[in-house]
This record gives sequence, structure tokens and C-alpha cells, in this order.
Amino acid sequence: MRGNFTVNGKKCQFEFQADERLLISLRNNGYTEVKNGCMEGECGACLILLDGKPVNSCQVFTASAVGKDIKTVKGIGSLHQPHVIQEAFVEAGAVQCGFCTPGMVLATYSLLQNNPNPTEAEIKSALDGNLCRCTGYVKIIEAVKLAAERLQVNGGYHE
Ligand code: FES
Ligand code: FES
Repeated sequence: MRGNFTVNGKKCQFEFQADERLLISLRNNGYTEVKNGCMEGECGACLILLDGKPVNSCQVFTASAVGKDIKTVKGIGSLHQPHVIQEAFVEAGAVQCGFCTPGMVLATYSLLQNNPNPTEAEIKSALDGNLCRCTGYVKIIEAVKLAAERLQVNGGYHE
């Protein structure tokens, strides 16, 4: 099968199997920043924004995403032009092996878009589906708080 998508603002076309999951299609087409942790919807490593909503891409059939807008972590910032959230993760020491980071950053992006000043409980709830084997989560929560503060000072998202 073939289908058109918009990934990080660029129009593209993927070829894919009828039963293929979006995580696999993205990785097959070079979007390897979307991580494959479990393929079972349990770890959040494959989280993307699909039409602006956070979803685990391993649980989405590619065929069902045709025509939709996809954002991966590279769509919000890059190594040389990091997003405020990415800077906050680095500064807070919330990145160790980095495997969970793309999903964590996008889950944070979605949270702060909808709730710019979350409580600690709201942060924990928003990141509930994202597992990290390295950090113990404390620094990740600090990073989200730091990002929220900075975004409020800056008046919101810059991309
Ligand atoms: S790889 Fe999708 S939730 Fe783990
Ligand atoms: S930094 Fe290693 S899994 Fe989170």
C-alpha cells in the first residue's frame, strides 16, 4: 500500500504493508528518532503527535494515519536549535541513555500546550505512559517544571 503523510511539516509518501504499524513505517523511512521499545503500547518510547495528539505509534496502523499530520521529536527542535523543553531536559540531567527521551519530550510538549503550569501530580499523570529505566523520574519531573517556567517567561512555545 501507499499513502501520503505530513511529517514534521514535510509532505511525504510511504509504502507499507496492510498490517504495518506507524512506528515501523516511520523508522523504515528514516525517522529513527521514534524509538521501538516494546511494540505493545506499554513504554511510550514510540510516542508521536498525530494531528497534534500524543499517541503510541506502535499501536496505530499506518493505513489509518494516511493524510494525517505527524510530529516526531525532531519536529519540535534539533541539536543546533533545541526546543526549550529539550534544553530543560539536558540542563536538569533528565537524559541518560536517551532512549525514552523523544517520547518524554513529546509527552511534555503536549502537556504544556494544554496545561502551561501543571502541578507535580499532573506532570506524573501526563508522563504515566512513558517508562524510563535510567533516571528514576525525579530529574525528568524537574525538567518538566523547568520547561514550564521558561515557557511562561517566554510567553509560550517557540519552534
Ligand atoms: S514501543 Fe510503542 S509503547 Fe513501547
Ligand atoms: S534515559 Fe534511559 S530510559 Fe530514560
